[in-house]
Amino acid sequence: MSTDRPVAVLTRSERETRALGALLASVLEPGDVVLLTGELGSGKTTLTKGIVAGLGGTEEVTSPTFTIVHCYATDPVVAHVDTWRLAGTGEVAELALEEVLEDGGVAVVEWGELAEPLFGADALLVRLGHADERGGSGRVVELTAPSERWEARARRVGADARRAGLEVRG
Ligand SMILES: Nc1ncnc2c1ncn2[C@@H]1O[C@H](COP(=O)(O)OP(=O)(O)OP(=O)(O)O)[C@@H](O)[C@H]1O
Ligand SMILES: [Mg+2]
Repeated sequence: MSTDRPVAVLTRSERETRALGALLASVLEPGDVVLLTGELGSGKTTLTKGIVAGLGGTEEVTSPTFTIVHCYATDPVVAHVDTWRLAGTGEVAELALEEVLEDGGVAVVEWGELAEPLFGADALLVRLGHADERGGSGRVVELTAPSERWEARARRVGADARRAGLEVRG
């Protein structure tokens, strides 16, 4: 387990949340799992839009609330998962996401808490929340690296975000 503090990025608009997703995409490798957590409307799908676009996706990204999983023809392939309607971790296991990962794809999971028992030890955890600034909107996006495999990459995303003009804390 890492003792590193999360990298926290403030996104002030939907555009910035997408931009952060694209920066995250640039460090992803085949077999990666990204678990997105955060309340309703915190920006999980928006971040995924940026990830898919960053990996060359041209298809419009919508929340797979009813289809549960949608795969994008990106490089690597992105399996976008929404566990909102699933009853528990067992149902996430039934999705057999390992097959996508073994084939060199990556999985991006909304409401990722449910998948944490399956993948948490080696998945990047991304917690999104409303920044709640007085009179303003915005989101705080925290990247937590649970393993050495992720630490340098999470820091790289933070550095890239700072260079791109986003506010980065930690
Ligand atoms: N940094 C931001 N500042 C302001 N609005 C934002 C920001 N990032 C995303 N949004 C907006 O927040 C709204 C909700 O975003 P999104 O659908 O991505 O959330 P979600 O976490 O996927 O929601 P759900 O829990 O329903 O799946 C969208 O209208 C999006 O444009
Ligand atoms: Mg969503």
